[in-house]
Amino acid sequence: EKVPLKLEINGVKHTLSVEPRTTLLDLLREQLHLTGTKKGCDYGQCGACTVHSDGQRINSCLTLAVTEEGKKITTIEGLAKGDTLHPMQEAFVKHDGFQCGYCTPGQIMSAVACIREGHANSEDEIREYMSGNICRCGAYPNIVDAIMDVKK
Ligand code: FES
Repeated sequence: EKVPLKLEINGVKHTLSVEPRTTLLDLLREQLHLTGTKKGCDYGQCGACTVHSDGQRINSCLTLAVTEEGKKITTIEGLAKGDTLHPMQEAFVKHDGFQCGYCTPGQIMSAVACIREGHANSEDEIREYMSGNICRCGAYPNIVDAIMDVKK
């Protein structure tokens, strides 16, 4: 049986009806067609599904949508302002912070949170904060460079 759910996603208010067991990730991708948020492992190990909930980063695959009632969710689709990329998106382009790109939305959402939460004071600190976001292509050094660039 579906339950009602009110959420704000990328500045747009939604009144939804969801199965209680639906994850936020599946809600975003399947019900709202916001497919920028990726499903890698679906069990909290890869970070591809990272979004912000009231400004805090979360793994949307581990989050039941109903627990987000009334929250403000930001996904990768919500970062750019019209045609203007977010500075972190610009920095990933400039520093080649991706190869295949699959992990990139999650990497960028974590990277934005890394600076906002004050964990970008050294390369080591950035690597530690970003350690939950796996990149199989091994773009890690460039991702750290991108974050350092935005931080300065
Ligand atoms: Fe959520 Fe991998 S899909 S952490």
